Amino acid sequence: MVSDETGTLYLHPDRNLALELVRATEAAAIRSAPFIGHGDKNGADGAAVDAMRKFLGTVNFRGTVVIGEGEKDQAPMLYNGEVVGNGQGPECDIAVDPIDGTSLTAAGRRNAISMIAAADRGAMLDASTVFYMEKLVAGPEGVGVVDIRQPIGENIRAIAKAKGKDVSEISVGILDRPRHDDLIRQIRDAGAGTRLLLDGDVAGGIDAASYSGRLDLCYGIGGSPEGVATACAIKALGGLIQTRLAPKDDDERQRGLDAGLRFDHVYEADELVKGDNTFFVATGVTDGNLVAGVQRKGPIIRTESIVLRARSGTIRRISAEHLVEKWLGEEQLAGI
Ligand code: FBP
Repeated sequence: MVSDETGTLYLHPDRNLALELVRATEAAAIRSAPFIGHGDKNGADGAAVDAMRKFLGTVNFRGTVVIGEGEKDQAPMLYNGEVVGNGQGPECDIAVDPIDGTSLTAAGRRNAISMIAAADRGAMLDASTVFYMEKLVAGPEGVGVVDIRQPIGENIRAIAKAKGKDVSEISVGILDRPRHDDLIRQIRDAGAGTRLLLDGDVAGGIDAASYSGRLDLCYGIGGSPEGVATACAIKALGGLIQTRLAPKDDDERQRGLDAGLRFDHVYEADELVKGDNTFFVATGVTDGNLVAGVQRKGPIIRTESIVLRARSGTIRRISAEHLVEKWLGEEQLAGI
């Protein structure tokens, strides 16, 4: 607690780890920027992974990657179990996605981000045996109002009422995948509109939970790692996230059961990540609704990041200017 003669100034003035982690997402975004639109998603991911790993090595913590990336595509990884940080300071779980939206980056499409989430050691659910989860995300108005166990039409009417909007004004973000065809029809039949996401349901979930966002709900099946990372962000934003594991087949289901996961269960935010010592940081790779992408302006590279901390409830936007000469050779810069 920090106090002066006027009383308590602030309850938790301790360290905001995410303010250091943001350097790693900035680095990953900058290094992947030359790959934007060049059709090489593994090249983009590899550059982002290398940069993120190097910068994580400078941060004063003992992080264990609980949720790494790349298993799906055999992409270069910050692998599960990898220990990162400079070996001093607090022990943490971290979830990394050096690029959420590798295909978006390779195609030159909007909404690719680089992200890291962190929490106390042992706080994050290890759902690595089951690749997909069904997820429902809403802002603070949705808490106690929407429920993943209810049909989507009921949730749309409930969130509309809670927000004082007409159902026709409700926007639901959902990944544009054949597996969602029926759900997309149900959303439209209920009278709401869809915002079809090509990729990137972490950014979609944060958008739905933010006061400044454009979505009212984000719904559908996406990656389990992304679900746990989104939960770290939602804890700072005060919204709701509920998930159910969605195994692809019996083998995956069995691996999940062996790992102690439950399939008839709705995982709430506190089960996805325990406690309030959670951090989330994302930097834009390509321009998006959440953050702007990497931009080159002469000798400067500009990045935009969002830094969330659950304990304090702070939401920071960090706009940074980096000197080109400190980062990349001229030939690598050609694409930015
Ligand atoms: P990557 O860029 O890390 O591969 O993830 C993109 C993403 O769209 C996630 O945001 C989402 O959770 C997941 O892929 C959905 O998986 P799929 O593309 O198999 O439907």
